[in-house]
Amino acid sequence: MAETKKSQQSKPQRSARWFEADDMRGFAHRQRMQQIGWRREDFIGKPVIAIVNTWSEISTCHSHLRERAAVISQAILAAGGFPLEIPALSLGEIFVKPTTMLYRNLLAMETEELVRSHPVDGAVLLGGCDKTTPGLLMGGLSVDSPVIFCPAGPMLNDRYQGQKVGAGTHTKKYWDEYQAGRIDINELTTLEQRMTRSIGTCNTMGTASTMTTIVEALGFALPGSTVIPAADAAHIRMCRDVGSRIVKAVQEDLRPSLIATRSAFDNAARVFMAIGGSTNAAIHLLALAGRAGVSYSLTDLDKIARETPVLLNLFPAGEHLMEDFFYAGGLPALLSQISDQIDLNALTITGNSWQHHLADVADHNIIHSPSLPVSQQPALAVLYGNLAPNGAVIKPSAADAALLTHRGRALVFDSYAALKAQINDPELDVDEQTILVLRGAGPVGAPGMPEWGNLPIPKKLLEKGVRDLVRLSDARMSGTHYGTCVLHIAPESAVGGPLAWVKTGDEILLDVPNRKLELLISDDEFAQRRDDWQAPKQPYSRGYTALYQQHVGQADTGCDFDFLAGNAITPEPVIY
Ligand code: FES
Repeated sequence: MAETKKSQQSKPQRSARWFEADDMRGFAHRQRMQQIGWRREDFIGKPVIAIVNTWSEISTCHSHLRERAAVISQAILAAGGFPLEIPALSLGEIFVKPTTMLYRNLLAMETEELVRSHPVDGAVLLGGCDKTTPGLLMGGLSVDSPVIFCPAGPMLNDRYQGQKVGAGTHTKKYWDEYQAGRIDINELTTLEQRMTRSIGTCNTMGTASTMTTIVEALGFALPGSTVIPAADAAHIRMCRDVGSRIVKAVQEDLRPSLIATRSAFDNAARVFMAIGGSTNAAIHLLALAGRAGVSYSLTDLDKIARETPVLLNLFPAGEHLMEDFFYAGGLPALLSQISDQIDLNALTITGNSWQHHLADVADHNIIHSPSLPVSQQPALAVLYGNLAPNGAVIKPSAADAALLTHRGRALVFDSYAALKAQINDPELDVDEQTILVLRGAGPVGAPGMPEWGNLPIPKKLLEKGVRDLVRLSDARMSGTHYGTCVLHIAPESAVGGPLAWVKTGDEILLDVPNRKLELLISDDEFAQRRDDWQAPKQPYSRGYTALYQQHVGQADTGCDFDFLAGNAITPEPVIY
């Protein structure tokens, strides 16, 4: 199937149950809309569109979303719809602690219930900072009313001493230089003003850019929209297009279930690899597939990673930024380079298939051709072994190639607090061969699986010029970061995964070419340690965090809540 049938108003809108009912409730609903100044003819019989807005004053990447929501509202009205701006949880990556990942499922649940419980026929999902994108779309998939994702857009490029510098990647780089004594506090203070030059999301190929690009590849954003810089006037025009398109999508009854097919997920996984995307996408993509009822696994991702070279030359795997990807043509241009590996019949929110949306590459320094990939290493490898029975991931394209096959002695930290207290101790027993191990950092253990997986290099090694070590954890890593970091080890240590019984001094084998991660102890010793293990006590006995720990899944299935996963039908709300 490709294009949608343009069945204008083929069935009654959901909002008619609220606004057109011939009973006291219908009378009250119409009253209350008129209470705020609308006339009957403004909303009765019109597609009612929610603009689910993740604006917040402390969500710095979304600071422009109130203005963009106003533009989208105008466009919805002009297209014959009726807009309702509805605020939702804003997950500003930098300030929310312990981690926004703890709240992704809460945003997903809120989005689903906001749309379901209100007189809404379709929704614009307005977000972009890391977890907002998967959270919004997970909710949209579950409610299965027409939705379109409107990206916040990336920040503009910045430059420092003649070099392009971008959010996240260079924060980490310059902090390491400061720790190593190569830059002083005055330069560090100057650098605080750089890298985050304008409104918008991080401009490296971190988690935000990865997820917005993936959502576009899935078909839920306008083709080419997710690369438009937030500060560009084209971003405002794109918002107008979003407003007019969602009204038509409702009229066409273009539901998410028509778009989020197995082919769409294969396309999205292919794009994830070709852009050298964040390892975080290995969690979010599986969670999205789970909501769509599409069976998708880490093994599927590894297979696609092996077949797909990294073509996009952006930090942290390359050397450019999202603004450059915009000038090079964005996703439609990238797709033209891998069109033989993409199902071009997959439907998009435009009502047309990807076949209609390919574009030429404007700059092959940014979007490479498959014959000249950016890296000889893939964007993702999935490892298995006695340390990760259900899998772990690594980003070989952002790692030191010399460390991808490595055998070393473990130095174990039971928590991030322990790591922080010890890592810069001059007496720490660590060298270039050591494998740093962090546990207690997974979905249940941390809780929320924070981005602690890029374990800091000990200061004494930084001073010797060491910039990478093999590091293992059940945590995630920021998509803007780099290093030989094995992440998402599943099951995590807090629920009895084998990571829980590694001891300092044990030998570990990392063998990325053969996708192996092994703890080199005897089977008898392994069994003895498993029998001796006791679950750590958790301090949360109430509140959202307790609910999270009771219901969150492991990384290899997307960390969704057990009661939110799947695509079973939820009945429409009763109205009496
Ligand atoms: Fe918001 Fe990076 S902090 S996108």
